[in-house]
Order: sequence, then C-alpha cells, then structure tokens
Amino acid sequence: MHPNINIKNLLLIIFLSANVFQATSCFFARKYKVQVVNRLPPNNSSLFLHCASGDDELGRRTIYARQTFEWAFCASGFSKTLFFCQLWWGSKDRAFEVFNSKHSINDCRSFLCSWSAMSDGIYYQDGQNGELEKRYDWN
Ligand SMILES: *[C@@H]1O[C@H](CO)[C@@H](O)[C@H](O)[C@H]1NC(C)=O
Ligand SMILES: *[C@@H]1O[C@H](CO)[C@@H](O)[C@H](O)[C@H]1NC(C)=O
Repeated sequence: MHPNINIKNLLLIIFLSANVFQATSCFFARKYKVQVVNRLPPNNSSLFLHCASGDDELGRRTIYARQTFEWAFCASGFSKTLFFCQLWWGSKDRAFEVFNSKHSINDCRSFLCSWSAMSDGIYYQDGQNGELEKRYDWN
C-alpha cells in the first residue's frame, strides 16, 4: 500500500466518494420524479399549487395550460418518503399524496409519477406512457 494512504485517509476517500455518488445518483435508493401537469381548459387554466414533504418545501407556484411542475429525489422502501400537493383551480381545490415510498412498489413503477389536473378531477399516470386514471375529484 502507498505509505500516504493509511486507513484514516482511505475512510475519508470512501466517505467523500459516497457523498459525490449520493449527489449525482442515489445511494442504496432509486431516483424518482414526480410531476404535476396542467391539462385544464386553455381558456381557464390558471392552477395554483403547493407541494412539500416533511422536510422539503417546494414552494408555491402557478402553472398554466400544458405547463409542468416537477422535481426529483431519492427514495427506497426502507425509509419513509412522502410528498403531498395541494392544487387550487378557481374555487376548487384538492390536497393529496403524490408520492409515498410505502406504496411505490405499486405506483410509480417507471420511477415517474405523473399527476394531471383536468377539469373533472386529478388523474394519475405511471410514467410517460401509462394510462391516465382518475384518482380524485375536486372539492
Ligand atoms: C372556456 O371555453 C368553454 C368552451 O368553449 C366555455 O364553455 C367556457 O365558458 C370558457 N370559459 C372561460 C373562462 O372563458
Ligand atoms: C375557472 O374554473 C374554475 C373551476 O371550475 C371556476 O371556479 C372559475 O370561476 C373559472 N374562472 C372563470 C374566469 O370562468
């Protein structure tokens, strides 16, 4: 072994590369993406949304017809990751879980959970090519 690489330095190198690896991919986890797509009628499409998890505040924003708001994160079935969103459309609104690592085995198989706001409610789509399924009505 090279004299300068003692066990302490070696551990430091492993620690630093794990951090770099964690930042670029997901360490012992998978990378998921959640998106909210505005599929409301173009003449009345102003959608206000607020998404967050216990320790991740994604802010409040407005998206218009065909616009998408999305974010990515690492999650595994071994730790609890839960994101929720609240959507407002005119006088209507709806709050729901958009991602829950405890259910990710069934939902989000393609690692992209896509939610669409439509005039009759909120639809879910697994990945880009999954079928749109209605999940929630507006309140
Ligand atoms: C949007 O278009 C639909 C269909 O043309 C119409 O019924 C509705 O009143 C329009 N809404 C607004 C806000 O213009
Ligand atoms: C747009 O649609 C929402 C939800 O149905 C409704 O509350 C709002 O009044 C509509 N806005 C206009 C300008 O028609």
